[in-house]
Parts: sequence; C-alpha cells; structure tokens
Amino acid sequence: MKNHSIFDCSIIHLPRIYNRSGNITPVENLKNIPFEVKRVYYLYDIPGGESRGAHGHKELESLIIAASGSFDVTIDDGHNKKTVQLNRPYFGLHIRPCMWRDIHNFSSGSICLVLASELYNEEDYLRSYEEFMKFNSSIINSVVK
Ligand code: TYD
Repeated sequence: MKNHSIFDCSIIHLPRIYNRSGNITPVENLKNIPFEVKRVYYLYDIPGGESRGAHGHKELESLIIAASGSFDVTIDDGHNKKTVQLNRPYFGLHIRPCMWRDIHNFSSGSICLVLASELYNEEDYLRSYEEFMKFNSSIINSVVK
C-alpha cells in the first residue's frame, strides 16, 4: 500500500456545461476523476457551523463536492495538515486513502456530496486519531522495509 501525503490530495476542476436555465456538472469514472465510483452519499440538513466526518479510511478514496453552500475540509496525513474551503459545485477535493479528515464550518442548507471508491465497510474506518496514526505508521514501516 502506498503512503500518500496531503500534497497528493488536490482540487479537481469538474466540467461545467452552462445554460441560461441552469448549469450541469457531469462526473465520469476515470475520466474526470482518477478512481471508479462504487458509492455516492450526501450529507444534508446539517445545522450551520456543525462538524462531521472526523475519521480516516484505510483504503477508500473519495471526491468531496459542495453540491450546495460551503464547508471546510481539513485533511491530515499524520505529518502535515491543510484546510480547503469548498464552495462551488464544480470543484471536488480528491482525498487519497489514509488521511484523517474533518469536515466543518458548514453553511446552513449546504449539501456535501461524496463520491467514494468502495461500498460502505465499517472495517475500513479509522475511528480514532490514535488508530489512524498507528495504521499510518504501519504503512510507512511496510514501505521502508
Ligand atoms: P459516518 O461515515 O460515521 O459519518 P460522519 O463521519 O460524517 O459522522 O456515518 C454515520 C453513520 O451512517 C454510521 O453509523 C454509518 C452510516 N453510514 C452508512 O450506513 N452508509 C454509508 O455509506 C455512510 C457514509 C454512513
């Protein structure tokens, strides 16, 4: 397994098809995003200022999009941290495996759309920061060996 850093997690500019009566943003597997989507979920009815998603994933990668409104995503690879504000439906933040992520500062009425590379699997979650750091160093050690 590869050890990714926050610098491998970038904003992907999605296509925009303009129309007077509204715009369209299509997202196609392996064309606009570098992985195959197995699951889509969205967070909504989030009270303004609330936080979600403080966890990591062992293998899952995802693209996070502010389909409506705005929020901040903080990603942490165990060494470095960065916070990205998402506020346009045509920008997606690509989150690589094994990142601690925290989604916060939701504007009221915002919708957080997540395209995910795996089906829901509780075994893939790193629910505590301690568990995340342990898993993270086990990958680094296996790469170094
Ligand atoms: P979780 O991913 O922990 O959300 P957050 O970190 O934003 O609070 O999911 C919350 C609950 O929803 C958890 O009990 C698992 C369930 N869930 C599913 O059943 N399927 C899914 O695809 C997701 C994302 C969550």
